[in-house]
Amino acid sequence: MKKGIYPGSFDPITNGHLDIIHRGSKICDKLIVSVLNNPNKKSLFSVEERVKMIEQSTKEYDNVEVDSFSGLLIKYAEDQNADAIIKGLRAVSDFEYEFQMALMNKKLSEKVETIFLMTSSKNSYLSSSLLKEVARFGGCIQGLVPEDVKDAVYNKLK
Ligand code: PNS
Repeated sequence: MKKGIYPGSFDPITNGHLDIIHRGSKICDKLIVSVLNNPNKKSLFSVEERVKMIEQSTKEYDNVEVDSFSGLLIKYAEDQNADAIIKGLRAVSDFEYEFQMALMNKKLSEKVETIFLMTSSKNSYLSSSLLKEVARFGGCIQGLVPEDVKDAVYNKLK
């Protein structure tokens, strides 16, 4: 498959996201990991910080690029000439909303497919919001995010 977009908030990137990037990079010739710039959502890290952390965490992949976008994902995907949107699915609870978005995106553009990769079972409970909550209350997030991201999370929450 030619070009895939892996969109998300990535606030911050987790080992679950990295698993999807690893597997997505094998099925796409080029994979663009793109951070949604959403001024209406309060985030721990700025878009620039998130982009930098993802770049750092994915530097081993020659066919992975990091970018950011605002507004409609499907418009961005079309502007990038993407063939597919890559999404990770963790649990049944993710499914309903993801299915709705996939159908809406298909309605908006026939050209772009949405492809879901099932999370690896070891990451099925992992989310950026949960790990921020754990870190905020002094819990251990070792092994859930790359080491430098772990340090960045604790530094931000100090
Ligand atoms: O990591 P997240 O927060 O679960 O990612 C959600 C994201 C960014 C993929 C989704 O919110 C999105 O596509 N936002 C862009 C706005 C948009 O296109 N909305 C219509 C969806 S059909």
